[in-house]
Amino acid sequence: MTARREMHLLENCRFLRALRRQPVDQTPIWIMRQAGRYLPEYRATRKRAGDFLTLCRTPELACEVTLQPLERFALDAAIIFSDILVIPDAMGLGLKMEESVGPVFENPVSSARQVYKLGSVDPEDDLSYVLEAVRTTRRNLPHSIPLIGFAGSPWTLAVYMVEGRSKTDFSKVTAFARQNTAAMHHLLKVLADSVSDYLAAKASAGASALMVFDTWGGILSTPEYESLSLAYMAEIVENLKTSAKDVPVILFTKGGGAWVERIAQTGCQAIGLDWTVDIGDIRRKLGDRVALQGNLDPDSLKLSNDEIEQQTADILRSYGTGSGHIFNLGHGIKPDIDPAKVAFLVDAVGRLSKHYH
Ligand code: CP3
Repeated sequence: MTARREMHLLENCRFLRALRRQPVDQTPIWIMRQAGRYLPEYRATRKRAGDFLTLCRTPELACEVTLQPLERFALDAAIIFSDILVIPDAMGLGLKMEESVGPVFENPVSSARQVYKLGSVDPEDDLSYVLEAVRTTRRNLPHSIPLIGFAGSPWTLAVYMVEGRSKTDFSKVTAFARQNTAAMHHLLKVLADSVSDYLAAKASAGASALMVFDTWGGILSTPEYESLSLAYMAEIVENLKTSAKDVPVILFTKGGGAWVERIAQTGCQAIGLDWTVDIGDIRRKLGDRVALQGNLDPDSLKLSNDEIEQQTADILRSYGTGSGHIFNLGHGIKPDIDPAKVAFLVDAVGRLSKHYH
């Protein structure tokens, strides 16, 4: 196949067309954390790698697990296997993944002085293994399947950098933000620069869309959300307009349903929604300014097929007719889900959504 034909296939896939709100034959679907522990083949590759971080740092293995869910299910996009915490790790915080604890930093941020010593990350240098994984995966993916590149939002990364671990009550980071306001903004700015460069590098390496995971934006008050989280995501969107021209950006703030108008104003192409909002209400609020991604409750995959079908039908009906919807869960899939439920969901979205296009 010629390179031009390959590009044409990719640019006209359902996922990228839906992001641009161009007509599609059915609603595209992919699943947050689609490569992960609910898949036995993922657990086998992770065992072979030895641990999670070696899996992330070995491009051939990262490629292998990225492709696994696509071999099983008719998904419309792949997401590069990695983690949002590779950026703080590259800044020298020393990431460790501890069994049953989750991510832990050996050197968390505990003082303003420490923040001013942190340098921004050069992706080509410090995160070349991720870019290599993107290139390897792009070469091995079917031509019609787009690859999503992602990063954490500056605020969400800062939460982990200050708290030092994932199971937390956020008391350290909220105190740090209040007592060291200037240092916190310095940290967020360094992270926004690093995330912008990192996402642009992923786009150059072969990512067709970019997603920012703002997992902890939803713990903030509205003014804090605007100044600590949204402002820096807006900066990233702005930077990418020149450094990754024409590559759509999806912003996902978990718990951000009340702020969708503000999020749309950043100029992002799509907004990820968690399961607490009604997607039809959000569509009516925003008109056709952005595409919407979501938003089935991840726990729904524990229900019967009939109930999954019902809830899927409800979301599709609520969004209504026309393009601009990318089906997904409202947050990552959990490790205890039966892969057969994912197969059922993917089939149901295909079957039920044709009616709306
Ligand atoms: O979506 C995908 O398939 C791509 C892979 C991906 C991972 N992490 C792999 C992973 C993505 C997109 C992420 C993003 C990520 N990582 C987020 C943002 C999205 C979200 O879920 O809110 C966050 C907050 C993290 C940080 C992180 N990484 C935590 C809190 C944990 C531990 C919790 C858990 O699920 O175990 C991780 C580890 C992690 N990242 C795993 C995977 C598959 C599990 C590690 C393992 O294999 O044991």
